[in-house]
Amino acid sequence: MITYAKLFENAKKKLDLNQLEHRCIYLFLEDILKVDRTKIMLMRDEIVDDQVLERFSEMLADYIIDLKPIEYILGYTYFYGNKISVNEFVLIPRDETEELVEKALEYIKDEDKVLDLCTGSGAIAVALKKSRDNIKVVASDISKEALEVAKMNVKDNKVDVELVLGDLLEPFKGKDKFEVIVCNPPYISKDYVVNDIVKHEPSVALYADDNGLSNYERVIKDLKEILVVGGVLLLEIGFDQKDGVFGLCEKYLDNYEVNCYKDVNGNDRIVVIKLKEC
Ligand SMILES: C[S@@+](CC[C@H](N)C(=O)[O-])C[C@H]1O[C@@H](n2cnc3c(N)ncnc32)[C@H](O)[C@@H]1O
Repeated sequence: MITYAKLFENAKKKLDLNQLEHRCIYLFLEDILKVDRTKIMLMRDEIVDDQVLERFSEMLADYIIDLKPIEYILGYTYFYGNKISVNEFVLIPRDETEELVEKALEYIKDEDKVLDLCTGSGAIAVALKKSRDNIKVVASDISKEALEVAKMNVKDNKVDVELVLGDLLEPFKGKDKFEVIVCNPPYISKDYVVNDIVKHEPSVALYADDNGLSNYERVIKDLKEILVVGGVLLLEIGFDQKDGVFGLCEKYLDNYEVNCYKDVNGNDRIVVIKLKEC
């Protein structure tokens, strides 16, 4: 029999030995006990129930031994204030992508038709539709399994988002045009070594050819076919990809305006391309 204080002490020691962060302790306990951390802090001298201890130990082992991301162990994360289910078929939405949502909301107007290209878990689409109920949101992905997760998140968050399976802009060519397109595609260069936790995320969500630029190239090349004149494409980019993406605009677009914005850490993160009248 151990108290919560002892459970914390033991868990911290194990995490320290493996140079892992402590934040999982509260997250796992909040999930198991269904109470918030303030309540857990007040339970220090209470004895930990056997079932709670067993479940907590399993979760901690998944994290420490298998190096599984905390969000996959829990089966959910929070993005832009919304609870988003995740599994090994989708990228875990990142904090910097919330900044992409913020930026997109600056451009989205009432009644706009908005595309979340490469939607994964659907986190961006859900955030946009929850923020602006009077827009039409379409979300697409090449992964059938990812779209299943997006479908669940759309339903659980009670929003109306149309989900489309397909390869980048292909499903929309000659059919649909959008006022705003938001896209966080795979953009990691194939020779970049990611850490052991990120390795659990699907390769299709992480890597792209040509130093990570291949998806940007395909989208920018065909952009005029699915973005209205005056419309805006917002791309999340890697910290060193601004020049590459600006070069692609130069190569494929005639009359446009392009700007790059930094994230809270001071890295180039969001490129906004506006198509102008020729
Ligand atoms: C970096 S993840 C972004 C997921 C989500 N939008 C987010 O920000 O958390 C990229 C997503 O693009 C999808 N993807 C990869 N190649 C694609 C393609 N050719 N066409 C459409 N989606 C693609 C992957 O399945 C993955 O869900």
